[in-house]
Amino acid sequence: MYSDKVMKAFTDQSNVGELEDANGIGQVGNASCGDILRIYLKIENGIIVDAKFQTFGCAAAIATSSTAIDMIKGKTVEYALSLTNSDIVTELDGLPPQKIHCSVLAEEAIAKAVEDYRSKHQA
Ligand code: FES
Repeated sequence: MYSDKVMKAFTDQSNVGELEDANGIGQVGNASCGDILRIYLKIENGIIVDAKFQTFGCAAAIATSSTAIDMIKGKTVEYALSLTNSDIVTELDGLPPQKIHCSVLAEEAIAKAVEDYRSKHQA
């Protein structure tokens, strides 16, 4: 059902947790399943220098969140905002059709975290 990359991302705990010194936090929920994802970003000079996530979500939500974090760490804020759920799914060699909606959480949470950062750091 799941690709090897999904299974690997699902079991990788390195991106899980609260980022104490985050300066942008985004939380989103999926209305259909009730799952929740929170993404923490630490942004310096337009670069995402660190990021972590916490979720009450399914395996696909965990795998896509972890992969999204890997994809945006060390990259610009603009790159992170341009990342779509399709990009994340492609990176994972696909998801079962009924789990595609889970990948949207990561895209939305990143956008919210950047919005949070910008609301605090722009006059
Ligand atoms: Fe809720 Fe996957 S079933 S995020």
